[in-house]
Amino acid sequence: MKILFYGGSFDPAHKGHAALLAAAVREIKPDAAHIIPAYHSPFKERSNTPFELRMEMAKNAFKNISARLIFDNFEYKRQRKTYTCEIIEHLQKIYDKPELFMLVGTDALNEIPSWKQPDFILKNATAVAGKRAGLAAKEKLPFKYRILKTRLPKVSSSQIRLEILVNGEADRTVGPSAGIITKHRLYFLNLHDWLKKNLKENRYLHTRSVAALSAQLAVINDAYPERAALSALLQDTGKSLPDKDLITYAKKCGIKPPFYDLILCHAPDLLHSYVSSHIAQTRFGITDELILNAVERHTLGAADMTVYDKVLYVADIASKDRKYKGAFTLRDLALKDLERAAMIAAGMKIIFTINEGKWLCPQGNITWNHLLKK
Ligand SMILES: [Fe+2]
Repeated sequence: MKILFYGGSFDPAHKGHAALLAAAVREIKPDAAHIIPAYHSPFKERSNTPFELRMEMAKNAFKNISARLIFDNFEYKRQRKTYTCEIIEHLQKIYDKPELFMLVGTDALNEIPSWKQPDFILKNATAVAGKRAGLAAKEKLPFKYRILKTRLPKVSSSQIRLEILVNGEADRTVGPSAGIITKHRLYFLNLHDWLKKNLKENRYLHTRSVAALSAQLAVINDAYPERAALSALLQDTGKSLPDKDLITYAKKCGIKPPFYDLILCHAPDLLHSYVSSHIAQTRFGITDELILNAVERHTLGAADMTVYDKVLYVADIASKDRKYKGAFTLRDLALKDLERAAMIAAGMKIIFTINEGKWLCPQGNITWNHLLKK
């Protein structure tokens, strides 16, 4: 029996997955195809999207494929990392001497020799991959594999998640999983709901504009755009509170940033960055320190900023919705040289504060001095 198997996170399932499976079914003509959503892929952090919903998205995306599809929760039942060699053993227990075909993305094809027990995998299954830009056609890999003839659409789950994160909606361009994503408020649509409800409209639009620029700056600087965009969306959740509530919140939760007493006395609104970070953690379950730090530092900066800190620090005052003189130039500079843009941004923030006749927090000066030294 010819058995095809297709594992993946399906987070979300998209038309690229469907096209790949359809092409494999057409060309291999398997007697059955096992779709095996990952519980915890050995190559990735465990998905935050519940397994049941990723399974539902896969079922929905593949519903028009005419083949005997078996939606297999083998990995879910194990509740731990599962390796391809274990999937092969699982299928060999179900079928008597099956001829196995392992459907993978083109990028994964090159990686197989580094997987657990590659000899066992390649002895017992033929790798099948889609044709996609990135794989040199003439490149010959040192094992048995098949490249499907059908050309596949260029789409990825991470790109879709990023679009949803920045746009705050999963419209039809997102593909077959749009309905399930919208219904279950996946990929931080719940955060967008909260922001729309709790922030003033202009603030919400600004946040989205910062998220778009942050994602762009992250890509240019070899950082993860999803992490940068999420930091941007979370940055001003604390602005939902008036100053007196910010003070109460900070006191109740033990939030004590540098220069706390001076901030309380002169500019309690500066607490919003630290409160936003706390809200990100407690209300939205963010545990990623890089995100929490970027949110905390987005207004005043810090001596040693990470790339995510700098991205948000700059994007906040250089986003497209900023209309002051110099915003365009700063944005243009940020796209070319983030480090220098961060220094200019630190200087501009100090000048703005002075021009508005406001109190200057020493933390802003520390940031300026540090960026200047570099
Ligand atoms: Fe802010």
